Amino acid sequence: MSLKIFGGKSSTPDSVSNNIKLAIATSVFHPNLKFVIDIEGSGNILLQDTKTGFEIFEPNAIVKYLSATSKNGSNDVFKKTPQELKLWDFLNSKSNNLANLPLEFSKADAQSVAQIFTFGTVYPVFSKLTPEQQQSTPLYPWFKEFSQIPAVAKAIKDATSHIKIERVKEKNTGESHVAKGVALEKLDPSVKIAPKADERNILITSALPYVNNVPHLGNIVGSVLSADIYSRYCKQRGYNTLFVCGTDEYGTATETKALEEKVTPRQLCDKYNKIHKEVYDWFQIGFDHFGRTTTEKQTEIAQDIFMKLHKNGYLEEQVMKQLYCPVHNGYLADRYVEGECPKCHYEDARGDQCDKCGGLLDPFELINPRCKLDNATPEPRNSKHVFISLDKLEPKLREWVEKASTEGKWSKNSKTITNSWLREGLKPRCITRDLKWGTPVPLEGFTDKVLYVWFDAPIGYISITANYTDDWEAWWKNPEQVQLYQFMGKDNVPFHTVVFPSSEIGTGDNWTLLHHLNTTEYLQYEGGKFSKSRGVGVFGNNAKETGVSPSVWRYYLASIRPESQDAQFSWLD
Ligand code: MF3
Ligand code: ZN
Repeated sequence: MSLKIFGGKSSTPDSVSNNIKLAIATSVFHPNLKFVIDIEGSGNILLQDTKTGFEIFEPNAIVKYLSATSKNGSNDVFKKTPQELKLWDFLNSKSNNLANLPLEFSKADAQSVAQIFTFGTVYPVFSKLTPEQQQSTPLYPWFKEFSQIPAVAKAIKDATSHIKIERVKEKNTGESHVAKGVALEKLDPSVKIAPKADERNILITSALPYVNNVPHLGNIVGSVLSADIYSRYCKQRGYNTLFVCGTDEYGTATETKALEEKVTPRQLCDKYNKIHKEVYDWFQIGFDHFGRTTTEKQTEIAQDIFMKLHKNGYLEEQVMKQLYCPVHNGYLADRYVEGECPKCHYEDARGDQCDKCGGLLDPFELINPRCKLDNATPEPRNSKHVFISLDKLEPKLREWVEKASTEGKWSKNSKTITNSWLREGLKPRCITRDLKWGTPVPLEGFTDKVLYVWFDAPIGYISITANYTDDWEAWWKNPEQVQLYQFMGKDNVPFHTVVFPSSEIGTGDNWTLLHHLNTTEYLQYEGGKFSKSRGVGVFGNNAKETGVSPSVWRYYLASIRPESQDAQFSWLD
C-alpha cells in the first residue's frame, strides 16, 4: 500500500488528541503503515496515497477511512451503539467535565472508532492528572484497559515521540525544504531518481530546444517553463518525478550555422548548449538533468530502434527525389526550402511544415519553392533513402492514439492536429538524410547517410535519461509504473503523437509511451512574430539584462501562457 499518515507537529491539546487518534487507527487498522510526524516541515495532518495523490486532511475522517479500508475495521463506521451515541453527544457538547462522561463501555475495544475518538479526546486531559485524580474518575477503568491494548500502547509512543523526517536539499538552489507534510527521501545527487513500485512515477520532458539559437520567450513559456511548473507541482505533492530536457543538436541547421560561425558543428553545439543551460538556470528551471542529443548513448539507442524497425519489417527503401541547390551545391533539408503552402496558401511555408495551418509538408508540394539560403530555385536529384512504413504501423498507432488521448487528457489542439494527420492516412516517411552531422545510419548501403533529425531527436529524451542514469529503462520501458508527460509548442505535436510513437511501437519493445500531452499556441511579440534574424523579441539572455527578477518573468509568462490561443507579450504589461 502506498498510504502515508502524517500527524500534526503542534503540541496543543487538540493536536495531541488528533495524533493519538491517528496513531491508534493506523496501528490497529493498518499495522503495516507508518504514522509519522514531520516536526521540521509544515507539520500538517494528512493522509496521502502517494500513488494516486488521494488525500484526506480532516483527522476524524482519516480515522474513519482507515477503519473502512481495513480488514479488521467496520465498513459502517457511522453506525453507533446506543452507548456510543450518548458518548458522541457528550463529545459534541464540548464539555470538559469528565465527571459528566457517560461511560458505559463494557469493554475496551480499540477497533471501535467511537472508542478511538473518545480516547484521543480525553488523553490530553487525562495525562495531566495525578494518578489519584485519574482513579477518581468513572472513566479510569476503561481508560486504563484501553491504553494497555498493545496496539494502543505502541500508538501512544508513536504519537508522543516525534519522528524526524530527513531534510531534502534542493539541488539547484541548495535550499533545504520539505514539501507540505510529505516525507521525501534524502536527495543525494549521486543517488539517481528511479521509479518506485508503490508510488506515482512521473516522467516529464520539455521539447528539446534547437541548439543553434538562443531560446526566445515563446520557446521558454511553451516547453521548459510549463514543464518546470508541473514538475515543481508534482514534487510538492510528493510524486516521484523525473524532469529531463537537453539541446537538440543534429541536423542541417547546426551544420549551416557552424559554417556561418566558422567552427565545427561540435564546437558550435558545445557553445550553445552552455548558453541554453545558463538561460534556463537563470529562469530557475529545475531539470533533474539537462543533456544533449549528440552522445554515444544517442547513437546506441537510436541505432537499436532503427535496427528493430528493420528486423520487424517496418523499414523500406525508396529512391528519393531531393531538392538540390545548384547555387550553394548541397541537398536542401526540408526546412531550407520555402514556398507557398499547398493547403492554405501561406506564402512562407517551410518544406517540412506550414506554420500557418500546422500541416506537415513534403518540400516538393510547395508552390514556387526557393532555397532559404540564396533564393535560388532548387532542382530535383535522386538518392536512395530509408523510409519508415507508417502505413503499416497505422492500425496499431490509431488504437493507441484513441486510448492515450483520452486517458492522458491531451490538450484540444494536439488532438485536432493528430486527428487531421490520421484522417489523411499515414504514408511511409523518409528517415535518412544526406548529411554528416547526425546519427550514422547503421544499415549496409546507407552508411554514408545519417538519421533524419525528426526521427532521431525524440529518441534524445531517452538517451538524455540514459546519460543521467544507467537504469533508464526503469523509466522508459515501464508503462505499468510510469506516466510520461510531455510539454511542447503545437508545431511539435505530430512528431510526438504520430512519428515517435510509431517508431517506438514498431520496435516491439514495451515502451513508456506518451501519457499526457501539453501544448501551447504561439506567444507573439507586441503583435508580431519573435524573430532572431530580424532581432525582434526578447531572448533568454535579454530577460536577464532587464534586471527584473526571474520570478517576475516566470509569473508574467505563466500568466499570459498561450493555452488555447495565441497570446501577446507586451512591455506595457
Ligand atoms: N528542436 C525542436 C524544436 O525546437 C523540438 C524537438 S523535440 C524532440 O521545435 F523531441 F524531437 F526532441
Ligand atoms: Zn541555395
